[in-house]
Amino acid sequence: MIVKFDNLDILDEDILSYQDRVNKIVDDLNNRKNKIDDFVGWLNVDIDKEEIDKIKTTALKIRKQAQVLLVIGIGGSYLGARAVIEALGNDKKLEIIYVGHNLSSDYIQSVIDYIKDKDFAINVISKSGTTTEPAIAFRIFREIMEQRYVDAKDRIYVTTDSKVGALRSLANDKGYTSFAIPNNVGGRYSVLTSAQLLPIACANIDIERLLKGAKEASLIYQNNNVMNNECYRYAISRNILYKNDKFIEIFANYDNRLHYFSEWWKQLYGESEGKDNKGIFPTNLDFTTDLHSMGQYIQQGRRNIFETIIFVNSNYDIKISKNIDNSDNLNYLDGKTINYINRKAMEGTIKAHVEGGVSNILIELERLDELELGKLIFFFEYACAISSMLMGVNPFDQPGVEEYKKNMFKLLNKPGF
Ligand code: PA5
Repeated sequence: MIVKFDNLDILDEDILSYQDRVNKIVDDLNNRKNKIDDFVGWLNVDIDKEEIDKIKTTALKIRKQAQVLLVIGIGGSYLGARAVIEALGNDKKLEIIYVGHNLSSDYIQSVIDYIKDKDFAINVISKSGTTTEPAIAFRIFREIMEQRYVDAKDRIYVTTDSKVGALRSLANDKGYTSFAIPNNVGGRYSVLTSAQLLPIACANIDIERLLKGAKEASLIYQNNNVMNNECYRYAISRNILYKNDKFIEIFANYDNRLHYFSEWWKQLYGESEGKDNKGIFPTNLDFTTDLHSMGQYIQQGRRNIFETIIFVNSNYDIKISKNIDNSDNLNYLDGKTINYINRKAMEGTIKAHVEGGVSNILIELERLDELELGKLIFFFEYACAISSMLMGVNPFDQPGVEEYKKNMFKLLNKPGF
């Protein structure tokens, strides 16, 4: 993984002026990472061997007992797992369907219809155990499961807080297999913990290599020189751009396997940084697709945006061949691979956008596998915490999301609202 800062109009001395502040933030995070009542536990990427074995054994059991796994969760308790599974692919032995991340009746009905004649299992993931959307989905699909299977209890897997919450009590009462979300890790920082590794393992993805990648990144980014530490530099660059009125960051991928990774990134940065009337507005696009929809705005709209581009080299060698009549005028591409053309599209777009006043950060991956993705996840989590703290906000809370809930509960006559 290489991060390039060539297309940012930022002086080295400006980056260096952040050295002391970053040192303090890093010390603070390191001091807090082992505290059980804080939210910095994600900095420890080592998970007990016993826990890993339990996840792997349970995943094998689910892959044998079901054709479909319903993963129920929302926000940080869903996006990380989906990001990894969509990026690395599911071997399709077990289909994974996500529910509980919306309140669309049509969507839920379509899932009910789809699983009618299929064996299914459920992994419900909710730290609080009380989030409305997943709680509703769990009630609906648990009922279907209990009506259909005498062994329903053996098909339900609960991932929640180790001690408290409605789901924890239910799991204990019913004897469901359960996993404990670490106390000191919040939803959006939980992808590399027991919170989300079960569905990832169910897709036959090597969770140990994912963690190994994150571990490698955690060692690489211990280098405390802000000029050489790409993670610190990304956090600092965002803050400098923000001060220069670049309020919107577009996270654009050139590989649509990274669509849900971008969704995960968007939540991580939006929920961590957007508070106290501060924060870069994070948004994501899929290129080249969205160059044909949003490309116009990026090139010539308001100049308050910058881009973080992610480009993955492809292993596939799909070549364009010469065609005798050349009716599509594509013979100039004779012998070139799609990967090469995609790269040239990326290079041409960066040049155009930079000339149009849109600064660019480029992240290149030689390949997309467990190791690289683990590194990338750690890179963004760590940079997000540092960037938010440089901005002067708490990266680990989300007080604002309660507002809509209060209104909704009142409208639904929930007791106490
Ligand atoms: O990042 C977060 O903390 C949130 O997005 C939560 O993950 C999300 O609201 C779901 O919460 P819970 O796991 O308690 O159901």
